Amino acid sequence: MSDQVIVTDADGIRTIRMNRPEKKNALTRAMYETMTHAFETANTAEAVRCVLIAGAPGAFCAGNDLADFLAATETGSARPALEFLPALARCSKPMVAAVSGVAVGVGATLLLHCDYIVAGTDAHLVTPFAALGLVPEAASSLLGPRLMGQRRAFEFLVMGHPLDGAKAKEFGVANVVVPPNEVDAVALKAACEIAALPPGAVALARRLMRGTPDEIVARIDEEARIFSERLRSPEAKAAFEAFFARKR
Ligand code: COA
Repeated sequence: MSDQVIVTDADGIRTIRMNRPEKKNALTRAMYETMTHAFETANTAEAVRCVLIAGAPGAFCAGNDLADFLAATETGSARPALEFLPALARCSKPMVAAVSGVAVGVGATLLLHCDYIVAGTDAHLVTPFAALGLVPEAASSLLGPRLMGQRRAFEFLVMGHPLDGAKAKEFGVANVVVPPNEVDAVALKAACEIAALPPGAVALARRLMRGTPDEIVARIDEEARIFSERLRSPEAKAAFEAFFARKR
């Protein structure tokens, strides 16, 4: 298990906190593995009534670690990332997210799976998929239009326009916007509120509202197939090299 993700259980709440602030919580393969395990075991842990996903102040998650990504493309070892997304989609417990600062790529699209989102005024959600020569992932091509409407989803997922906290709320992605230093406390309060409800009723209501995860997982698979083709494209390779060349 990676210490770059800290998983704790208390008072019915499983907190999954990404803890690699020096890299803005960019997700390595080890981090994906820890998070996948945390989601899968939450499903069967009766004591877990709500999952709280959190990051660091100013850095919720910078998405896939681009260096890991390049290596995975060359060695074909992208499995941890590919296992993470279905585990997220199949999480049967309600999910709350506490988002301060940057939420990029999968750091933003994972939020579309959550049930309640607290965003800081400093939130900066962005999906640079097209700019990186890639396509939307994490079923965001399905959940994005469903949640925001087609045109807003296009603006966010294809044009890559960022959402700050206020715009995330306007687009229906965030429930509430609070000062950055209150994000964790407000999210924990929401998680406690959910955890205090009768869990059977919450689970059934959630299932009725979301439908079966199979449709979402099917879209994740379809996107992943196209995404991995795109990773090998000259457009993507040039974009990744440009990112790392910034500071040389
Ligand atoms: N993969 C690998 N390293 C990353 C990263 C990523 N996705 N995002 C940030 N980092 C690293 C930076 O390389 C830098 O490392 P260094 O200090 O060793 O040079 C460190 O994290 C801090 O990032 P920095 O760019 O200096 O911070 P910032 O506040 O100026 O910008 C971001 C933050 C997230 C906006 C910017 O880093 C970024 O655009 N990252 C890429 C996001 C991305 O494209 N994700 C994949 C989507 S599919």
